Amino acid sequence: MSLTLTQEADRRRTFAIISHPDAGKTTLTENLLLAGGAIRAAGEVAARGERRRTTSDWMKIERDRGISVSASVMTFEYNGNIYNLLDTPGHEDFSEDTYRTLTAADCAIMVLDAAKGIEPQTLKLFEVCRLRDIPIVTFINKMDREALDPLELLDQIQEQLQLDTAPLYWPAASGQRFGGMIDLRTGEFLHYSKKTADEGLTPGTSARVNLDDVREAVDPSALEELEEGSEMAREMLPAVDRQAFLEGHMTPVVFGTALRHFGVGELLATLEEFAPAPRPQGCQKKDSPHTLQRDDKGVAGFVFKIQANMDPNHRDRVAFLRLCSGEFKRGMRLKTAEGKQLNIHNPMMFLAQDREIAETAYAGDVIGVPNHGQLRVGDSLSEAGDIKFAGIPNFAPEILRRARPKDPMKAKHLRKALESLSEEGVTQLFVPSIGSDMIVGAVGALQIEVMAERMVTEYNLDVVFEAAPYNVARWIASDDAAKLEAFLDKNKSASGTDLDGAPVYLAKNAWDVGYAQEKNPDLRFTATKERMV
Ligand code: G4P
Repeated sequence: MSLTLTQEADRRRTFAIISHPDAGKTTLTENLLLAGGAIRAAGEVAARGERRRTTSDWMKIERDRGISVSASVMTFEYNGNIYNLLDTPGHEDFSEDTYRTLTAADCAIMVLDAAKGIEPQTLKLFEVCRLRDIPIVTFINKMDREALDPLELLDQIQEQLQLDTAPLYWPAASGQRFGGMIDLRTGEFLHYSKKTADEGLTPGTSARVNLDDVREAVDPSALEELEEGSEMAREMLPAVDRQAFLEGHMTPVVFGTALRHFGVGELLATLEEFAPAPRPQGCQKKDSPHTLQRDDKGVAGFVFKIQANMDPNHRDRVAFLRLCSGEFKRGMRLKTAEGKQLNIHNPMMFLAQDREIAETAYAGDVIGVPNHGQLRVGDSLSEAGDIKFAGIPNFAPEILRRARPKDPMKAKHLRKALESLSEEGVTQLFVPSIGSDMIVGAVGALQIEVMAERMVTEYNLDVVFEAAPYNVARWIASDDAAKLEAFLDKNKSASGTDLDGAPVYLAKNAWDVGYAQEKNPDLRFTATKERMV
C-alpha cells in the first residue's frame, strides 16, 4: 500500500553523529547500518573507505592522512522508518564542512566515550547544535571498557553543556563486569554478555528479560551498582520531556557498546520515539517570511554541500540537496531563487555503499544533484523558484593565505579556480579593495592542503600560498549604509569582499577587530555569515 505524502514525511529521521575522534562514530555508524540491513558484515564501512581511498587517486591527502575528507549521506530503513544519516567528518580541521552538514540535520546523536566523557571536539560540535537548536540524543559508548561512573558522565553533560539529562536506561557496571542495562521506564532488563556479543549478535534491539531470571549470570557487584544507581536515577533524574528535548534543553541518554552491538537497536528506537520528523523550515516565500511544512505539496530544499570528483572520470560536481517539503520525482525541474533552472534527471540516493538513482524522495531526504557548477552551497531549489531559505553559515577563517601563481600569466586562471573551490565551500576567497591579491581563508590547515593539492591535480596550477598581511577576517554589516560606506572608504587597505561581494574587514589581529568595533558601534563585525540566497 502506498503511503501518503504526510506519512512518507512523518517516517523520516534525518540526523548526524557528533563526537570527538575515537569515541566510536565509525563503529556506531556501521552498526546502525547493520541494524538497518543496509550492510551485511561488520567492517564494510571501513572497507568501503579503503576501497574509496584506493580508487580515488585524485585526493592523495585523503589517502596519506587516512581520513575521509568529505561528508556523505547514508540512508537505511529500520522498523518502517527511513533514516538519513549525514556523515560528518570528525577531523577537527574539517569543522566547517561538519558545521554545514549539521544545518541539514533535524537531530544529532552525541557519542561519548564512557571512559572520557565530554571531549574538546564534542563541545565544539555541541555548540553548533545549540546555535541551531538541534535536539540531541546521547549515546554513551564503550561500556564494555572500564567507564566513568554514569552519574559523573551525566553530571559532565549537565555542567559543561547545560543540558538536562534524562537517562532511558541504567547500566550494570562497565568493563569486564558490564552486565547490561535496565530500562528505567519499564523495569525490563537487557542482558549483555561478552559471549553472546562475540558470537556476532546482530545489532537489533536486545531481548528484554526479567532481571530476576538472569541474576546469576550478572556479576554480583555489578548488580548492586545497577540497583543502587537505577534507584537514584529514578529519584533524582527527570523523565524525557519531549518538548524540552526538541528545544535542545534536554537529552535522552542511552548506554551501550557499538563494537559489541549492544544498545544500538535501543538508540534507533529512541530516535523513532523522540527525534523529530523533518522540521518546519523558516524561509522566505515570494519575499515574505514563511514556514514550510514537511508535507507541503511543492518540492523545496537547499544545498548544504557540494562535492567535486565523486567520480574521478568526470569533472562534474554533485550538490547535496536536503529536501524540506513535497514529493520529489526523478526528472523534475527545480529552480533556484535566482531563476536558474535544472532538470534533475539523475538524482542520486546514497545507500550504505552504493549510489542509486532516486525515483522519488521526500522531506528529510538528501539527494545528490549532478551539475556542472550551476549550484552553490546555500542555494535554495524549489518547483516555483519562489523559496529562499536562510542560508548556510560561513565561518570566519582562522587561517588566511595569499595565493600567487608561480607563472604570473596564470593569475586569471587561478582566480577562477579559487572561485570554484570557494563555491564548493572548500575554502573562502577574499579580494582586498586595493591591489590584486587573492586571499584564501580556511577554518583548518588541512583545508589549505586540500586546496593546494587540487590546484595541481585538477587545475594544473602551480600555486604559492604565502603569509597574508592579515590574520583575521570579519564580515561587516550595519543598518546604517552610510556609516558602513564611510568605514570601508576609510579602511581601504584593511577591507575587501568575499565571493558574494559582501564587505569584509581584514585585520592584523583580534585586537584590531575589537578596536574597530569599539570605534564603530553602529557596525557589526561578525565571525559567521548566513548567506541569504
Ligand atoms: P571514530 O570514528 O569516532 O574516530 O571512532 P571509531 O569508530 O573508529 O572507534 C575508535 C576505536 O574505538 C576503534 O578501535 C574501535 O574499534 C573502538 N571502539 C568503538 N566502539 C567501541 C566499543 O563500544 N567498545 C570498545 N571496546 N571499543 C570500541 P581501534 O583500535 O582504534 O581501531 P580498530 O583497530 O579496532 O579498527
